[in-house]
Amino acid sequence: MKRKFIIDTDTASDDAVAILMALRHPDIDVLAVTVVSGNMHVRDGSRNARYTVELCGAQTPVYVGCDRPLLREPVHAYWYHGPDGMGGMNYAEPGLQAQKARAVDALVELARAHANEVTLVTLGPLTNIAAALARAPEMAEQISRCVVMGGAANVVGNVTPAAEYNIWCDPEAARIVFRSGMNLEMVGWEVGRGDAALTDADIAAVYALNTPYAEFAMDCNAHAVELAKHWQGDPGMTLHDPTAMAIAIDPGISKRSGHYRVDVELRGELTRGMTVVDERHTVGTQAGFTDEWGVRERNALVHHALDAPRWKELLMECLK
Ligand code: BDR
Ligand code: CA
Repeated sequence: MKRKFIIDTDTASDDAVAILMALRHPDIDVLAVTVVSGNMHVRDGSRNARYTVELCGAQTPVYVGCDRPLLREPVHAYWYHGPDGMGGMNYAEPGLQAQKARAVDALVELARAHANEVTLVTLGPLTNIAAALARAPEMAEQISRCVVMGGAANVVGNVTPAAEYNIWCDPEAARIVFRSGMNLEMVGWEVGRGDAALTDADIAAVYALNTPYAEFAMDCNAHAVELAKHWQGDPGMTLHDPTAMAIAIDPGISKRSGHYRVDVELRGELTRGMTVVDERHTVGTQAGFTDEWGVRERNALVHHALDAPRWKELLMECLK
């Protein structure tokens, strides 16, 4: 039997590759794609998600969700992902329409209908998920596993020295999700750096697959690769959402992980959106300590690093 996934995404170039991986994987059944404001306005994210679904020949329903963070002003990343979010490729308008129902309602209903069966993979700010939890707190128990692409586990961030974009963008939503009791896994942006980035040789090997999927995955991320050369970006093609998807599909791809208590900084003068990972379990070891949320338990499995050859192999398999 196939595993059921729901993908929540602010669909731009690397999100699209992650969606494609799940749609193309023989063991995964994607029940829905829900779109949130983040990299793109939801209008553009919805178009990019629908284009990706159509490219895969799938009929997966795409739902449009929250068009701004819970409290903050939206900050998009067109400068990074290109004016259309797809590296300026200007793909044709998809024929597939977005569902009339809203993403938050779909999340609540699907979690209820498929209780204890669904892996939720989040690739954008956590606004839709926080809103769904506010509507139906029981969703925290109904989702069997939630893999979050977001955060930086006590390492430098990508939008500030302290924070990664998805969490920084809507820190209040992220805090709600991290405190919800859901079975969470965090894949920070650092997991997609270093040897996880695609080298020129890797990119050439993907193109050599000579499939529409391979071409699409590389083309729409080429803008970000170029940009990184002229900005303080990492070398190669860093695919953060696909690395999280790889761990969601095959947990064995994670090379190093730990179960910690994780919380999100909201008010820090320099540290808004920082994911504070209690790697030494300091809070839990203070005798009698109970914080404002009354919980000392570890609330997330944090992935620190992946097996780069295995992740790249999985990517290639999905793009064949
Ligand atoms: C995250 O931010 C976005 O630009 C990517 O799609 C990814 O979800 C990485 O920080
Ligand atoms: Ca994303």
